[in-house]
Amino acid sequence: MATLPKFKSKAFFAPMAGVSDPALRLICKELGAGLVVTPFTNIHAIVARKEIDKDISKFIEFSPKEKPIAVQLFGSDVKELQKAVKIVAKHFDIIDYNMGCPSSTVTEQMACSALLQEPELVRKIFHALVSSTKKPITIKIRSGIDKPNKFKQIATIAEEEGIAMITFHPRTVKQGYAGKSDWSLIKELKKLVSIPIVGNGDIRTPEDAQRMINETGCDYVMVGRAAAQNPFLFTQINEYLENGTYKEISSQERITTFFKYLKYAEKYPTIKLSNIRMQAMNFSKGCKGSKKLRGKLLTVKSVDDIKALFNEFYDSLE
Ligand SMILES: Cc1cc2nc3c(=O)[nH]c(=O)nc-3n(C[C@H](O)[C@H](O)[C@H](O)COP(=O)(O)O)c2cc1C
Repeated sequence: MATLPKFKSKAFFAPMAGVSDPALRLICKELGAGLVVTPFTNIHAIVARKEIDKDISKFIEFSPKEKPIAVQLFGSDVKELQKAVKIVAKHFDIIDYNMGCPSSTVTEQMACSALLQEPELVRKIFHALVSSTKKPITIKIRSGIDKPNKFKQIATIAEEEGIAMITFHPRTVKQGYAGKSDWSLIKELKKLVSIPIVGNGDIRTPEDAQRMINETGCDYVMVGRAAAQNPFLFTQINEYLENGTYKEISSQERITTFFKYLKYAEKYPTIKLSNIRMQAMNFSKGCKGSKKLRGKLLTVKSVDDIKALFNEFYDSLE
């Protein structure tokens, strides 16, 4: 079986379409994430732009500094999948396959989480994925469609077909993001298969990360929304897992890191002002007295406006 790269941390940054842009992923990497994953990309879009092979980062934006990095794909046409994998594989360390997105725009195309109910097709897909590259193939799944009753069958097929690792977000498709991520299912999955399991869902603090590892025995944890709001979570999780304590992050450090994010974001023309503003909102949330700043962020018209507001806020810090 293809071997996974060595991860420097047990905490991974989750793929989040419209959120985990390459600048944010690089910040998370620098702050200690063990693995970053691109948001999902449609296999048909990759195959239709075969020429992207020459400079793939123009289409799937990433930088080699993010390594180890996984590219996440979705789509269920087996032949097209194989073509897409052959195009992307050499540029990434891992090919991750999305079986978790609950959005009807993808499930109606028999992709992502809809596949949880199609074990025969899933076996063909896994076989095709694994046989088209020497790079490790990983999957990201939910627990089921309306009940948590599909993940075990899918995970068993995954192990049989040579999938190298499973990220498990134990909510059903019907739940979307409501309710709680049921970590007891991660424990069940960990007992069932011997390939590494990445537990995911509702980790907000270093203590949560430790608790998920303790309660479920998962090999790694993946953090999404909380890390997008506070990329320092990776530093803190790493410190906590190692020493049982972690440092608070000062507002100054948060603002300085946001400026670093801006510098990285400038290299990617597709990162829109709305995205940058969202990250500005997120980064400022951990800063004391930043409510007013967020109010002002609602009216900004340019990145320069955001920079001016953050400079002003930085100067106001004691
Ligand atoms: C805005 C948004 C976009 C997401 N996009 C993706 C995606 O492209 N691929 C994927 O596998 N999961 C995606 N997810 C799910 C996350 O990777 C993760 O499984 C989920 O947010 C639960 O983890 P958390 O509680 O740590 O946020 C997305 C989640 C959010 C909130």
